[in-house]
Amino acid sequence: MTEFNIIPLDQVDKAWVDQLLDQVFGPDRASRTIYRVREGLDPLPALSFAALDDQDYLVGSIQCWPVALTDPDGLAYPMILVGPVGVAPDHQDQGIGRALMASVFGALGVGEKLPLVLLGDPEYYGTRFGFSADRTGGWTLPGPYEQHRLLALVRPDLPIPERGMLGPWRMI
Ligand SMILES: CC(C)(COP(=O)(O)OP(=O)(O)OC[C@H]1O[C@@H](n2cnc3c(N)ncnc32)[C@H](O)[C@@H]1OP(=O)(O)O)[C@@H](O)C(=O)NCCC(=O)NCCS
Repeated sequence: MTEFNIIPLDQVDKAWVDQLLDQVFGPDRASRTIYRVREGLDPLPALSFAALDDQDYLVGSIQCWPVALTDPDGLAYPMILVGPVGVAPDHQDQGIGRALMASVFGALGVGEKLPLVLLGDPEYYGTRFGFSADRTGGWTLPGPYEQHRLLALVRPDLPIPERGMLGPWRMI
């Protein structure tokens, strides 16, 4: 079992992060639809973290992005896109993914109202972190994806549209 530390992602060389994510998701990862949802954005520094092993090698990372769900009337509802969450193959199943997610939840705090959204395996993000596809059935992404993997964590009392398209959030 590896010892690891979680630090802010912006303290790590971006080239290392790219190398890790290429290793985990493949070098063609940027062609995936989810990359279009956060196209042109920088990750949110307060919500993006790295996991380093005891030799200070990067073994995991998580990034969050400011996105919005735009409803059929053109109204934009801001949300936080979580991901990619990636852990080096030889360090998986040691709690690093869980610790990276916990760092995001810790940084958000209990008062956070913005929905979190991600594209990922319901088996991992559902039972462990409370994400579900219950409210995302009418949401779309700008390209091909598997609808059952579009997951959100939304406060039950928060009014959000049943239908909409996810994309980058820009104030103007
Ligand atoms: C998915 C990922 C981020 C999880 O991080 P991790 O550090 O390996 O996982 P943790 O140690 O926090 O959790 C391990 C548990 O999650 C389970 N798990 C891991 N990946 C899973 C998946 N894709 N679906 C369901 N369960 C999964 C493990 O079986 C283990 O279960 P257990 O606690 O019952 O033994 C990491 O494995 C990863 O980067 N995988 C490659 C990318 C990938 O497969 N992504 C798919 C999800 S989007």
